[in-house]
Amino acid sequence: MLQLLKDVDKLSNNAPIGVFDSGLGGLTVWREVRRALPAESLVYLGDGKNCPYGSRPREEVRRLADEAVAFLVAQGCKLVVVACNTATAAAIDFLREKYAPMPIVGMEPAVKPACLATRSGVVGVLATERSLDGELFRRTAARYGDGVDLVTAPGRGFVELVENDLEATPEAEATVRAAVAEMLEHGADQIVLGCTHYPFLLPVLERVVAGRGVTVVDPSPAVARRVVQLLDRYGLHVDPAHRAEYTFRTFADEAYRLRLERKALGAL
Ligand code: DGL
Repeated sequence: MLQLLKDVDKLSNNAPIGVFDSGLGGLTVWREVRRALPAESLVYLGDGKNCPYGSRPREEVRRLADEAVAFLVAQGCKLVVVACNTATAAAIDFLREKYAPMPIVGMEPAVKPACLATRSGVVGVLATERSLDGELFRRTAARYGDGVDLVTAPGRGFVELVENDLEATPEAEATVRAAVAEMLEHGADQIVLGCTHYPFLLPVLERVVAGRGVTVVDPSPAVARRVVQLLDRYGLHVDPAHRAEYTFRTFADEAYRLRLERKALGAL
């Protein structure tokens, strides 16, 4: 720990925090980090070229996550948030080991708070296929899902809707309705959003579950709180006089980069 703290000393306080996702989805986490830490500079990397990750083989997702974190390290980031459940599930241990001592925050499926809060004893979890069949989800479900009926469903088509700015369409409503049908039938009163693209579909989801006493759980505020904790622990907060800068990068083209910027402003 002492050695780690000493190495972390080499990271610069005024360096940016990196936030990465396969595409636009991680902006829902970027927004929370910005809200929690308004003085910090942020570099957002939305891969864009290889999105979606959710149906790719684990090895491939791990390689893509590695390239993304290497890119953010090359930008001088002092901490990286893997704002992608799929990449977290496929690669978080590997990334933490490879890029130590730089702190890396991953996404946790918010199964724990949902299991603690459920009154019906049924919790729905929406995530990508790759996240749902991953070890991280299995471990979390085994740890907190005791005595709770966990009904999982892949958000089929959700990422594509968000990537194409189709959240406010009848197609989006039909897609969301189909995905949650089974969990609602089972009596879920908590629905966990296990993919960072999904909060963009929150208005639609709230319409679909209206009147059923369902709480939708988004883990992004908890992820932002974790970032604050780690900056505290390692003494990595920015100097108070620093002016925050927000940068958007992508492995796709300039048009996609501009979309990231626009979607970020729209998400505030
Ligand atoms: N937003 C990502 C997640 O949280 C990945 C979506 C995708 O690329 O399939 O899982």
